Order: sequence, then C-alpha cells, then structure tokens
Amino acid sequence: MIAITIDGPSGAGKSTVARAVAKKLDIIYLDTGAIYRALAYSAIGDGVDVTDEAAVGGFLSRVAVDVRYDGGEQRVFCGGRDTTPFIREHKISKAASDISKHVSVRIKMSEIQREIAKNNDVVLDGRDAGTFVLPNAGYKFYLTADVGERARRRFAELKQKNADIQYERVLEDIKQRDYNDSNRPFAPLKKADDAVLIDSTSLTAEQVAESVVKAVTAEKQ
Ligand code: DC
Repeated sequence: MIAITIDGPSGAGKSTVARAVAKKLDIIYLDTGAIYRALAYSAIGDGVDVTDEAAVGGFLSRVAVDVRYDGGEQRVFCGGRDTTPFIREHKISKAASDISKHVSVRIKMSEIQREIAKNNDVVLDGRDAGTFVLPNAGYKFYLTADVGERARRRFAELKQKNADIQYERVLEDIKQRDYNDSNRPFAPLKKADDAVLIDSTSLTAEQVAESVVKAVTAEKQ
C-alpha cells in the first residue's frame, strides 16, 4: 500500500495539496481534520463540553464514527448522521482543536485512520500523520508557510463563503491553534525527522502538489 503523509499547521495548504496529489496518483485523500471536526460538531450537538476530558471520553464511547467515500468524496458520519455539510464553520475549527487534545480522542481517531490506510493507497493530511498515526509511511512531507500568509489564505477562503469575519481575528485564531496543536502533550503537531520540509509561502498549491508527486514517483521507479 502507498501511504503519503502531509502534516503541518493550519492554513499551510495541506488539504488542497493532498486533494491534488490524490487526484494525480488516483488514490484516496483522507482528510483527518474532518474527522476531528465531525467529532467536535456532534459533541457540541450533544451538549458535551469539548474541553472536558471525562465528558468527551463518555461521548466517544457512545458515538460511532464512520468515514465513507461517496463518488471519491469523503464524508464523516457520527452516530449515523452525515456531518460533512456542517464542519467547516469557524467555531468548529476551534472546537476541533480543543477536542483533539484529549488522548482518548487521538487514539480512536488514529485507529480509524490506520484502518483506512491498511486497506487503501492513501494520502492523508493532518498534524501527527507522519509521527504517530503512520510512522512507517513510505512518503512523508511537512508543509508550512509564514503565519501571515496562512491567515491571508484562510481569510480569503472564509470571505468567499461570505463569512462575516475580520483578518485580524483569523490571524489570532491561527496563532492560537498553532500554539494548541504544537503544545499538547500527546502526539502534537511536529515534523517527523524523516519528513521532507516544504515552505509554501511563495508557492502555489499546484506547485507543491507537483513536487510531492515527483518525489513519490521518482522513488517508486
Ligand atoms: O486541518 P483542520 O483545520 O481541518 O483541523 C482542525 C483541527 O483538528 C486542528 O486545529 C487540530 C485538529 N487536528 C488534529 O489534531 N490532528 C489531525 N490529524 C487533524 C486535525
């Protein structure tokens, strides 16, 4: 099986790149952030405080999380309900970052990801894909970019969806998420020693995807 991991901070362009790589190589794109988002969204819907480890643990034991592919598109079901249309909201980003701190959550989410990678050629983007989820993945990348540039990209994306939001707020949220994601004690955001570092500050997603595909196909030959 082919496993390509792309880790990095929020807004570095991981999902756009991973999606393009999956298309070029005709393999599955596993959006791991969507699984954390789906869990956060349904926990909130169930009245669970996502910062409360015990409450989240209880919720985890009673909800089934299921990743499905429909016409090549990933959909995440929680408790039998498709969460996909609801997980991109701004407040879910923060809740996903909060819920992802808990060890029980990371272990369960990692098991789901490993199961998919066991049965499929996959490119997955996340925070700990190359360090914790699939430490033996054949191809590892760490994608980053200047924080101001990441905030600009996220701001443009939110504006396109007509979100009523200020750039400064997006920048602050990204800094806060960087801090949260990098400083949690268990499986934090971190470059794997053997991951290739790519700084996308002045590169397009297409250029980054090309270089990932080139690295993968060059090694396969
Ligand atoms: O990549 P994203 O913005 O969709 O991720 C949302 C949050 O989920 C992010 O702030 C941290 C968490 N996350 C994680 O901890 N591990 C992952 N593999 C993916 C996301």
